[in-house]
Amino acid sequence: MRAAASTPTGNTALSPGPSGQEARAAAAGDGPEAGLILLSKVTKRFPKMSTPALDGVDLAIRRGSFFTIVGPSGVGKSTLLRVLAGLTKPDSGQVSVFGEPPAEASRRKHLGWVPQSPALLPWRSVLDNVKLPLQLNRRAECQPRDPETILGLLGLSDAMDRLPAQLSGGMRQRVAIARAFSFAPPVLLMDEPFGALDEITREHVAHLLLDLWQAERPTVVFVTHSVTEAVVLSDQVSVMRQGKLGQPVDIALPRPRPEGIEDSEAFHELERELRALLREAFAATAR
Ligand SMILES: Nc1ncnc2c1ncn2[C@@H]1O[C@H](COP(=O)(O)OP(=O)(O)O)[C@@H](O)[C@H]1O
Ligand SMILES: [Mg+2]
Repeated sequence: MRAAASTPTGNTALSPGPSGQEARAAAAGDGPEAGLILLSKVTKRFPKMSTPALDGVDLAIRRGSFFTIVGPSGVGKSTLLRVLAGLTKPDSGQVSVFGEPPAEASRRKHLGWVPQSPALLPWRSVLDNVKLPLQLNRRAECQPRDPETILGLLGLSDAMDRLPAQLSGGMRQRVAIARAFSFAPPVLLMDEPFGALDEITREHVAHLLLDLWQAERPTVVFVTHSVTEAVVLSDQVSVMRQGKLGQPVDIALPRPRPEGIEDSEAFHELERELRALLREAFAATAR
Protein backbone atom coordinates (compact mmCIF):
# COMPACT_ATOMS: atom_id res chain seq x y z
CA MET A 1 0.00 0.00 0.00
CA ARG A 2 1.20 3.49 -0.83
CA ALA A 3 1.24 6.14 1.87
CA ALA A 4 -1.04 9.11 2.31
CA ALA A 5 1.05 12.12 1.44
CA SER A 6 0.55 11.59 -2.28
CA THR A 7 -3.12 12.45 -1.87
CA PRO A 8 -4.41 15.88 -0.85
CA THR A 9 -5.59 16.43 2.67
CA GLY A 10 -8.56 18.60 3.60
CA ASN A 11 -10.67 16.92 0.93
CA THR A 12 -13.62 19.28 0.64
CA ALA A 13 -15.79 16.67 -1.04
CA LEU A 14 -15.72 14.78 2.23
CA SER A 15 -15.95 17.70 4.61
CA PRO A 16 -19.07 17.95 6.74
CA GLY A 17 -18.94 21.74 7.31
CA PRO A 18 -19.29 23.63 10.56
CA SER A 19 -22.34 21.78 11.84
CA GLY A 20 -20.23 18.63 11.90
CA GLN A 21 -17.85 20.45 14.20
CA GLU A 22 -20.81 21.39 16.41
CA ALA A 23 -21.92 17.78 16.49
CA ARG A 24 -18.42 16.86 17.60
CA ALA A 25 -18.53 19.48 20.35
CA ALA A 26 -21.98 18.30 21.42
CA ALA A 27 -20.62 14.77 21.57
CA ALA A 28 -17.84 15.93 23.81
CA GLY A 29 -19.70 16.48 27.08
CA ASP A 30 -17.42 17.91 29.71
CA GLY A 31 -16.68 15.07 32.13
CA PRO A 32 -13.24 13.52 32.57
CA GLU A 33 -14.17 10.78 30.07
CA ALA A 34 -15.17 13.28 27.38
CA GLY A 35 -11.99 12.85 25.36
CA LEU A 36 -11.83 9.07 25.49
CA ILE A 37 -13.49 5.88 24.38
CA LEU A 38 -13.18 3.81 27.53
CA LEU A 39 -13.64 0.15 28.32
CA SER A 40 -13.13 -1.02 31.85
CA LYS A 41 -13.06 -4.73 32.80
CA VAL A 42 -15.46 -5.59 29.98
CA THR A 43 -16.44 -9.25 29.90
CA LYS A 44 -18.74 -11.07 27.49
CA ARG A 45 -19.37 -14.80 27.49
CA PHE A 46 -21.50 -16.59 24.91
CA PRO A 47 -23.35 -19.80 25.83
CA LYS A 48 -21.37 -23.04 25.39
CA MET A 49 -18.04 -21.24 25.04
CA SER A 50 -15.24 -22.51 27.25
CA THR A 51 -13.50 -19.10 27.28
CA PRO A 52 -15.14 -15.66 27.29
CA ALA A 53 -15.20 -13.73 23.99
CA LEU A 54 -14.11 -10.70 26.02
CA ASP A 55 -12.19 -11.35 29.20
CA GLY A 56 -11.86 -8.22 31.34
CA VAL A 57 -10.88 -5.86 28.52
CA ASP A 58 -9.46 -2.46 29.54
CA LEU A 59 -8.94 0.10 26.82
CA ALA A 60 -8.63 3.87 26.42
CA ILE A 61 -8.68 5.42 22.96
CA ARG A 62 -7.99 9.15 22.62
CA ARG A 63 -10.45 11.29 20.70
CA GLY A 64 -9.25 11.87 17.15
CA SER A 65 -6.85 8.94 17.11
CA PHE A 66 -6.75 5.93 14.79
CA PHE A 67 -6.73 2.71 16.79
CA THR A 68 -6.36 -0.70 15.16
CA ILE A 69 -6.89 -4.22 16.45
CA VAL A 70 -5.24 -7.21 14.77
CA GLY A 71 -5.49 -10.82 15.86
CA PRO A 72 -6.38 -14.39 14.90
CA SER A 73 -9.99 -15.33 14.06
CA GLY A 74 -12.33 -15.96 16.95
CA VAL A 75 -10.43 -13.99 19.61
CA GLY A 76 -13.24 -11.44 20.12
CA LYS A 77 -12.41 -8.55 17.76
CA SER A 78 -15.91 -8.27 16.28
CA THR A 79 -17.48 -8.72 19.70
CA LEU A 80 -15.40 -5.82 21.00
CA LEU A 81 -16.52 -3.59 18.13
CA ARG A 82 -20.15 -4.64 18.59
CA VAL A 83 -19.92 -3.71 22.27
CA LEU A 84 -18.55 -0.28 21.27
CA ALA A 85 -21.37 0.09 18.74
CA GLY A 86 -23.97 -0.66 21.42
CA LEU A 87 -25.09 -3.79 19.53
CA THR A 88 -23.87 -6.34 22.11
CA LYS A 89 -24.34 -5.82 25.81
CA PRO A 90 -21.39 -6.94 27.92
CA ASP A 91 -22.02 -9.22 30.91
CA SER A 92 -20.01 -6.89 33.13
CA GLY A 93 -17.72 -3.88 32.99
CA GLN A 94 -18.12 -0.31 31.79
CA VAL A 95 -18.14 1.16 28.30
CA SER A 96 -18.30 4.82 27.44
CA VAL A 97 -17.89 6.72 24.19
CA PHE A 98 -16.78 10.24 25.10
CA GLY A 99 -18.81 9.98 28.30
CA GLU A 100 -21.92 8.47 26.69
CA PRO A 101 -23.16 4.87 26.75
CA PRO A 102 -22.64 3.36 23.27
CA ALA A 103 -26.37 2.90 22.58
CA GLU A 104 -26.94 6.61 23.26
CA ALA A 105 -23.95 7.60 21.10
CA SER A 106 -25.36 5.42 18.33
CA ARG A 107 -28.86 6.90 18.65
CA ARG A 108 -27.39 10.39 18.32
CA LYS A 109 -25.48 9.32 15.18
CA HIS A 110 -22.09 9.76 16.81
CA LEU A 111 -21.07 6.27 15.66
CA GLY A 112 -20.53 5.03 12.12
CA TRP A 113 -20.52 1.24 11.91
CA VAL A 114 -19.01 -0.79 9.08
CA PRO A 115 -19.73 -4.44 9.92
CA GLN A 116 -17.61 -7.40 8.84
CA SER A 117 -20.33 -8.51 6.41
CA PRO A 118 -22.19 -5.57 4.93
CA ALA A 119 -25.77 -5.66 6.19
CA LEU A 120 -27.62 -3.94 3.36
CA LEU A 121 -31.38 -3.93 2.95
CA PRO A 122 -31.95 -6.16 -0.11
CA TRP A 123 -35.05 -4.31 -1.35
CA ARG A 124 -33.40 -0.88 -1.26
CA SER A 125 -31.17 0.48 -4.01
CA VAL A 126 -27.52 1.28 -3.30
CA LEU A 127 -28.36 5.00 -3.00
CA ASP A 128 -31.29 4.33 -0.67
CA ASN A 129 -29.14 2.07 1.51
CA VAL A 130 -26.60 4.89 1.88
CA LYS A 131 -29.36 7.38 2.73
CA LEU A 132 -30.86 5.05 5.34
CA PRO A 133 -29.08 6.26 8.51
CA LEU A 134 -30.11 9.84 7.79
CA GLN A 135 -33.71 8.86 7.13
CA LEU A 136 -33.88 6.77 10.31
CA ASN A 137 -33.00 9.65 12.59
CA ARG A 138 -33.61 13.02 11.00
CA ARG A 139 -32.95 14.90 14.21
CA ALA A 140 -29.52 13.36 14.73
CA GLU A 141 -26.79 15.89 15.46
CA CYS A 142 -24.82 15.41 12.31
CA GLN A 143 -24.14 17.14 9.06
CA PRO A 144 -24.74 14.69 6.24
CA ARG A 145 -22.49 14.50 3.25
CA ASP A 146 -23.96 14.17 -0.19
CA PRO A 147 -24.55 10.40 -0.64
CA GLU A 148 -24.02 10.59 -4.40
CA THR A 149 -20.63 12.29 -3.93
CA ILE A 150 -19.51 9.62 -1.47
CA LEU A 151 -20.67 6.84 -3.79
CA GLY A 152 -18.75 8.51 -6.63
CA LEU A 153 -15.56 8.67 -4.55
CA LEU A 154 -15.95 4.96 -3.84
CA GLY A 155 -16.38 4.17 -7.54
CA LEU A 156 -20.08 3.34 -7.29
CA SER A 157 -21.65 6.10 -9.43
CA ASP A 158 -22.87 3.60 -12.00
CA ALA A 159 -24.29 1.26 -9.38
CA MET A 160 -26.44 3.73 -7.44
CA ASP A 161 -29.77 2.38 -8.69
CA ARG A 162 -28.87 -1.28 -8.39
CA LEU A 163 -30.04 -3.63 -5.66
CA PRO A 164 -27.47 -5.26 -3.33
CA ALA A 165 -28.02 -8.68 -4.96
CA GLN A 166 -26.77 -7.19 -8.24
CA LEU A 167 -23.38 -6.22 -6.74
CA SER A 168 -20.12 -8.07 -6.16
CA GLY A 169 -19.00 -8.66 -2.57
CA GLY A 170 -16.43 -5.86 -2.84
CA MET A 171 -19.07 -3.45 -4.12
CA ARG A 172 -21.42 -4.32 -1.28
CA GLN A 173 -18.62 -3.64 1.17
CA ARG A 174 -17.98 -0.23 -0.42
CA VAL A 175 -21.70 0.58 -0.05
CA ALA A 176 -21.45 -0.20 3.67
CA ILE A 177 -18.41 2.10 3.89
CA ALA A 178 -20.29 4.84 1.99
CA ARG A 179 -23.20 4.47 4.38
CA ALA A 180 -20.95 4.99 7.40
CA PHE A 181 -19.18 7.97 5.77
CA SER A 182 -22.46 9.57 4.70
CA PHE A 183 -23.26 11.21 8.00
CA ALA A 184 -19.69 12.16 9.00
CA PRO A 185 -19.81 10.52 12.44
CA PRO A 186 -17.19 11.55 15.02
CA VAL A 187 -16.48 7.85 15.64
CA LEU A 188 -16.00 5.22 12.92
CA LEU A 189 -16.05 1.55 13.95
CA MET A 190 -14.75 -0.55 11.06
CA ASP A 191 -14.63 -4.35 11.20
CA GLU A 192 -12.30 -5.68 8.48
CA PRO A 193 -13.90 -3.18 6.11
CA PHE A 194 -11.53 -3.87 3.21
CA GLY A 195 -11.57 -7.66 3.51
CA ALA A 196 -13.56 -8.32 0.32
CA LEU A 197 -11.81 -5.67 -1.79
CA ASP A 198 -9.20 -6.45 -4.42
CA GLU A 199 -5.77 -4.99 -3.73
CA ILE A 200 -6.02 -1.90 -5.96
CA THR A 201 -9.48 -0.95 -4.66
CA ARG A 202 -8.28 -1.62 -1.15
CA GLU A 203 -5.44 0.89 -1.56
CA HIS A 204 -7.81 3.45 -3.06
CA VAL A 205 -10.37 3.11 -0.26
CA ALA A 206 -7.63 3.14 2.39
CA HIS A 207 -6.42 6.44 0.89
CA LEU A 208 -9.93 7.85 1.04
CA LEU A 209 -10.15 6.84 4.68
CA LEU A 210 -6.76 8.43 5.42
CA ASP A 211 -7.79 11.65 3.63
CA LEU A 212 -10.98 11.78 5.62
CA TRP A 213 -9.19 11.04 8.86
CA GLN A 214 -6.50 13.65 8.19
CA ALA A 215 -9.09 16.31 7.27
CA GLU A 216 -11.59 15.72 10.05
CA ARG A 217 -9.87 13.55 12.64
CA PRO A 218 -12.73 11.25 13.53
CA THR A 219 -11.85 8.64 16.11
CA VAL A 220 -11.42 5.34 14.24
CA VAL A 221 -11.47 1.87 15.75
CA PHE A 222 -10.40 -0.47 12.98
CA VAL A 223 -9.99 -4.24 12.69
CA THR A 224 -7.74 -5.72 10.01
CA HIS A 225 -5.72 -8.83 9.23
CA SER A 226 -3.04 -6.79 7.48
CA VAL A 227 -0.10 -5.68 9.63
CA THR A 228 1.10 -3.37 6.84
CA GLU A 229 -2.31 -1.70 6.59
CA ALA A 230 -2.38 -1.35 10.39
CA VAL A 231 1.00 0.42 10.45
CA VAL A 232 0.17 2.72 7.50
CA LEU A 233 -3.14 3.85 9.00
CA SER A 234 -2.83 3.82 12.76
CA ASP A 235 -1.62 5.80 15.76
CA GLN A 236 -1.78 2.70 17.93
CA VAL A 237 -2.14 -1.01 17.18
CA SER A 238 -3.16 -3.63 19.70
CA VAL A 239 -2.84 -7.37 19.14
CA MET A 240 -5.79 -9.36 20.50
CA ARG A 241 -5.69 -12.91 21.78
CA GLN A 242 -8.49 -14.98 23.34
CA GLY A 243 -10.63 -12.21 24.78
CA LYS A 244 -7.73 -10.00 25.82
CA LEU A 245 -6.17 -6.95 24.22
CA GLY A 246 -2.41 -6.58 24.25
CA GLN A 247 -0.60 -3.41 25.29
CA PRO A 248 -1.04 -0.97 22.37
CA VAL A 249 2.03 -0.39 20.20
CA ASP A 250 2.56 3.30 19.36
CA ILE A 251 3.03 3.89 15.64
CA ALA A 252 5.33 6.87 15.96
CA LEU A 253 5.53 7.69 12.25
CA PRO A 254 4.97 11.20 10.80
CA ARG A 255 1.52 12.43 9.75
CA PRO A 256 0.48 12.71 7.06
CA ARG A 257 2.38 9.55 6.25
CA PRO A 258 5.09 10.52 3.73
CA GLU A 259 5.15 8.71 0.42
CA GLY A 260 7.41 5.68 0.50
CA ILE A 261 7.23 5.35 4.28
CA GLU A 262 6.62 1.60 3.87
CA ASP A 263 10.21 1.31 2.68
CA SER A 264 11.69 3.01 5.74
CA GLU A 265 13.54 1.12 8.46
CA ALA A 266 11.20 2.57 11.13
CA PHE A 267 8.21 1.12 9.26
CA HIS A 268 9.81 -2.31 8.90
CA GLU A 269 10.76 -2.32 12.57
CA LEU A 270 7.12 -1.70 13.59
CA GLU A 271 5.94 -4.41 11.19
CA ARG A 272 8.45 -6.85 12.71
CA GLU A 273 7.37 -5.99 16.25
CA LEU A 274 3.68 -6.48 15.43
CA ARG A 275 4.28 -9.70 13.46
CA ALA A 276 6.13 -11.15 16.45
CA LEU A 277 3.23 -10.25 18.76
CA LEU A 278 0.78 -11.69 16.24
CA ARG A 279 2.73 -14.96 16.05
CA GLU A 280 2.53 -15.21 19.85
CA ALA A 281 -1.23 -14.57 19.67
CA PHE A 282 -1.65 -17.31 17.05
CA ALA A 283 0.40 -19.73 19.13
CA ALA A 284 -1.71 -18.95 22.22
CA THR A 285 -4.94 -19.38 20.22
CA ALA A 286 -3.92 -22.70 18.71
CA ARG A 287 -3.08 -24.15 22.09
N1 LIG B 1 -23.69 -14.19 18.78
C1 LIG B 1 -22.84 -15.14 19.16
N2 LIG B 1 -23.29 -16.29 19.73
C2 LIG B 1 -22.43 -17.23 20.15
N3 LIG B 1 -21.08 -17.14 20.03
C3 LIG B 1 -20.59 -16.04 19.48
C4 LIG B 1 -21.43 -14.98 19.00
N4 LIG B 1 -20.63 -14.00 18.50
C5 LIG B 1 -19.36 -14.42 18.64
N5 LIG B 1 -19.33 -15.64 19.21
C6 LIG B 1 -18.11 -16.39 19.56
O1 LIG B 1 -17.26 -15.52 20.27
C7 LIG B 1 -15.90 -15.70 19.88
C8 LIG B 1 -15.35 -14.40 19.36
O2 LIG B 1 -16.01 -14.08 18.14
P1 LIG B 1 -15.69 -12.78 17.31
O3 LIG B 1 -15.78 -11.61 18.19
O4 LIG B 1 -16.58 -12.81 16.10
O5 LIG B 1 -14.17 -13.04 16.89
P2 LIG B 1 -13.25 -12.36 15.78
O6 LIG B 1 -13.98 -11.18 15.26
O7 LIG B 1 -11.98 -12.04 16.46
O8 LIG B 1 -13.05 -13.39 14.71
C9 LIG B 1 -15.91 -16.82 18.86
O9 LIG B 1 -15.62 -18.03 19.50
C10 LIG B 1 -17.32 -16.82 18.33
O10 LIG B 1 -17.70 -18.09 17.89
MG1 LIG C 1 -14.60 -10.72 13.32
